[in-house]
Amino acid sequence: MSKLIGILTAGGDTPGLNAAIRGIGKAALGEYGFEVVGFKDGFRGMVHNRFMRLDRDVLSNIVSSGGTILGTSRDKPHKMNIGGKILDMTDVIVENYHKNQLEALVCLGGGGTQKNAFRLVEKGLNIITLPKTIDNDVVETDVTIGFDTAMSIATEAIDRLHTTAHSHHRIILVETMGHKVGWLALGAGISGGADVILIPEIPYDIGIVAESVLRRYRTGKSFSIVVVAEGAVSREEALAAEGRQEKPEGGRDGDGAGKTKEELRYMRDRMSENTLLLAEKLEGMTQLESRVTILGHLQRGGAPSSADRLLASSLGTTAAELAARREFGVMVASRAGEAVPVPLENIAGKRKFVPADHPLIESARHLGTCFGDE
Ligand code: F6P
Repeated sequence: MSKLIGILTAGGDTPGLNAAIRGIGKAALGEYGFEVVGFKDGFRGMVHNRFMRLDRDVLSNIVSSGGTILGTSRDKPHKMNIGGKILDMTDVIVENYHKNQLEALVCLGGGGTQKNAFRLVEKGLNIITLPKTIDNDVVETDVTIGFDTAMSIATEAIDRLHTTAHSHHRIILVETMGHKVGWLALGAGISGGADVILIPEIPYDIGIVAESVLRRYRTGKSFSIVVVAEGAVSREEALAAEGRQEKPEGGRDGDGAGKTKEELRYMRDRMSENTLLLAEKLEGMTQLESRVTILGHLQRGGAPSSADRLLASSLGTTAAELAARREFGVMVASRAGEAVPVPLENIAGKRKFVPADHPLIESARHLGTCFGDE
């Protein structure tokens, strides 16, 4: 009898998940003689033992589709809402893993999922993970599945906003996702030729931002594009958070671990509120009309880019190869274009921030981009 591999997708969806599922599934079925099932809606599917068989037909024609055919959720094995009660369902997951006689479980997710998956490694399960999140904040990998597509969508939006900002002589603030890190704002901001880029890793001074907009105005450029990462904070907010010994963003942990749905909603509303307030203040300080565009979930929707399809296919097929070699407890990382296994214990609980001296920041400064700090 063939051995069985399970796959699940957890956390926020990203373009490229289906390409990854296809990569794992096709290699597992065709090359290594496994059978493959997909658990529905993240770890919740493991708890309720809801799965679908992933045969060749199901895996066919999905490389280009967005979202995830398995569905996803932000549920955590050790803190799951079951009928209104928060319960630790880890043992049920372990039980269902054994009941289905799985050879391995491949978990596709961001930082929170890597941590949750590591907990299952500690319970003795054969786990392999893939890094996916538009935030690109998973450590030990150069890039995560979904980041490239989200960056392209945000770049296109910035391109379009340029023409209208120019025509109306306005400041347009564009809020990108990215959670507590600035990779998406930085990448899209530079590609889209933003005049100001605000990221969580570089707390900004609003006076410096206003001055850079006015400096442009004095040289005949009567509009500005300000890209704001949703987690960006002012110097005052950063200092206040330091005093409270919190992360300035007051944010959640990875894929939402440790926060209730209400807390997540509140945080997201607050993030966007920060951008709206910033626009209002900039308008007051510069006397230039301001508008805000919040890109939101648009950045996660639709078809994956070619780069994401390639990345997802390569990481996915490598996951199947590792399962065949019985190399478990690892995340398949992308390093210099190669798919390499990295022990999950080196990844769980960590986050990849943008270093203040990152070459992209240096390059943007040479282009005259203001980060609100100098
Ligand atoms: O982690 C991915 C991400 O898109 C973040 O950039 C964003 O803060 C969050 O998810 C949005 O979460 P949700 O889809 O639950 O609204």
